[in-house]
Amino acid sequence: MGMISLGILGSGTGSNMQAILDAISKGELSTRIVIVLSDNPDALILKRAAHHGIPTGVIDCSPYRSKFPESAQKYTAQKLKEAGVDLVCLAGFMRLVKKPLLDEFPSRIINIHPSLLPAFPGVAAWEQAVIAKAKETGVTVHVVDSGMDTGPVILQETIPVFPDETPEQLHARLQVVEHRIYPKAIARYVSTSTL
Ligand code: GRF
Repeated sequence: MGMISLGILGSGTGSNMQAILDAISKGELSTRIVIVLSDNPDALILKRAAHHGIPTGVIDCSPYRSKFPESAQKYTAQKLKEAGVDLVCLAGFMRLVKKPLLDEFPSRIINIHPSLLPAFPGVAAWEQAVIAKAKETGVTVHVVDSGMDTGPVILQETIPVFPDETPEQLHARLQVVEHRIYPKAIARYVSTSTL
């Protein structure tokens, strides 16, 4: 197979997508991002993608705030297939991927989560870690299955939680780790899978 084509789904800032783009431009990751889709038409991730000349699209999930309706999943799968995507990378995508999309990309959707899964699944994992007074936490890149933040782990990195740091300070330190390990995890997954 030629160069692997990545499709990115994100709902927010897009700093993880930016980290993937930076790794590609530094020659550290021999893939290309061929499409970026978001459920949020105002998401910065779409502006970042457009700035790099990457095709973008908006996934209409109305009237739901957090549910990923089947029609929207089918639309997303169609757009990803049309773009020739080999591997789907969730980067701050805040809706649960379910059957229609999973079935179109079996073991071909990965996600990054700011905790050492299975600890602290779900939203604001960094805040959960601070509230739980965890001594350490970290970042997980995993294959997406039908659960929430479940699925086989591809790569994890652990960092200490400092006794007096705020959730925001911890999240900032976790994002530095995310930006370093997501490209590494993609490279590892691409090299060890039959992509
Ligand atoms: C990251 O912390 C990621 O782990 C979580 O959502 C955030 C997305 O950040 N899933 P960004 O949009 O990539 O900057």
